[in-house]
Amino acid sequence: MFNLILFGPPGSGKGTQSEKLISKYGLKHLSTGDLLRSEIAGQTPLGLEAKKLMDKGHLVPDEVVIGMISSALDANPQAKGFLFDGFPRTVAQAEALDKLLKLKGTQIHAMISMLVSEEELVKRLLNRGKTSGRSDDTNEEINRARIVEYRTKTSVVADYYKQFDKLAEIEGEGTIDEIFESLQKEIEVHMEA
Ligand code: AP5
Repeated sequence: MFNLILFGPPGSGKGTQSEKLISKYGLKHLSTGDLLRSEIAGQTPLGLEAKKLMDKGHLVPDEVVIGMISSALDANPQAKGFLFDGFPRTVAQAEALDKLLKLKGTQIHAMISMLVSEEELVKRLLNRGKTSGRSDDTNEEINRARIVEYRTKTSVVADYYKQFDKLAEIEGEGTIDEIFESLQKEIEVHMEA
C-alpha cells in the first residue's frame, strides 16, 4: 500500500494534480472538500451545516471530517493506496488519521506540499470561480479568509509530518505538467524508501 497526502493552500492545485496522480498510480482519491460538496448537493443536515462554514471560508469541525474519512476508508477495503487531498487540515486530524490507518495496518508514507504565493492563489481561485459554480470561490474576501485559515491552522500540519521525515516540498508555480513531473519524482523517491 502507498498512502500520500497532497498538501497546499486553497488554489495550490491539489485537485488538478490529484486527478493526474490517481490515474498514474491507481490510488483512491479522498478529498474532504468533494465529500462535503456531495453532502451539500444532497442537502443532508451535515451538508447544510458545513455550507454555512465553507461559505465564510472557515474550516468544518474536526469530528465531522474525521468521521467522513473513517467511513471512506472502511468503504474501500481493496484500495491499493489512498491519496488524501484537503485532509488532514489540523494536527488533530493528522493524529486521527494516523490512528485510523494504524488500525488498518498501514500508515502515511509521504506528504508532498506545493508552495504557491498568495497573489497567485487569489488569482487562480477568482478565475476558477467564474466557471466552477463553487460558492466559496467567487469573492476575494472569502478566498483570503480561506488562505488565513490555511496559514493559521493548517500549515502546521506540514511540521507534524516533517518530524517523522515524511515531508517533501515542491515549487507549486509553473505549468501543470511541470508540477506533475516534480510530484512524480518525489513519489518515486518515497515509494522506493
Ligand atoms: P477544498 O475543496 O479542500 O478546497 P481547498 O483546499 O480550498 O482547495 P481548492 O479546491 O480550492 O484548490 P486546489 O488546491 O484543489 O486547487 P485546484 O486544483 O482546484 O475545501 C473547501 C472547504 O471545505 C474548506 O474551505 C473548508 O471549509 C472545508 N473543508 C475541506 N476539507 C476540510 C478539512 N479537512 N477540515 C475542515 N474543513 C474542510 O486549482 C485551483 C485553480 O487553479 C483551478 O482553476 C486550476 O485549473 C488552476 N490551476 C491549477 N494548477 C495550476 C497551475 N499550475 N497554473 C495555473 N493554474 C493552475
